[in-house]
Amino acid sequence: MGNLKKPAAQYVSCLILMVFFVSLMMTEATFAATTTSRIPQGRSGATIFTLMCAECHVTGISGAPKVSDKAAWAVRLKQTPDTLIEHALHGYKLMPARGSCSSCSDIEIKAAVEYMLEKVK
Ligand code: HEC
Repeated sequence: MGNLKKPAAQYVSCLILMVFFVSLMMTEATFAATTTSRIPQGRSGATIFTLMCAECHVTGISGAPKVSDKAAWAVRLKQTPDTLIEHALHGYKLMPARGSCSSCSDIEIKAAVEYMLEKVK
């Protein structure tokens, strides 16, 4: 009789382990889905601007065109928005690449430029 019980007990514990791993995999999948869905959007242009760009683009430090200075932007706006985004991403004269924000994604920098352009319209 002892011989019969043993395989049954093993079967049950194996089943418990399987349930455990499946639920673990499902939790990970849900986690991955929520984190990846957050990446494409990122932080808003307003947030990035306040955190990383305002320091120069509100005060006008080192000749940065101020968001309050429409005339300064009129000259810049002769370039296409793509060029302005390109300059924000890779730097331009005294404008540091990404406004020195190493944790900002391309999409976030693009959103920050669009936010600035909206302000200087
Ligand atoms: C350390 C100061 C500084 C920070 C921080 C900064 N900028 Fe600038 N930015 C400048 C300066 C200076 C210029 C003007 C460069 C020139 O034409 O001489 C400039 C110019 C620009 C231009 C116009 C480029 C062109 O082609 O005319 C854009 C767009 C821009 N910045 C976007 C941003 C964005 C977006 C951020 C934040 C992610 C940012 N900047 C953060 C200093 C800064």
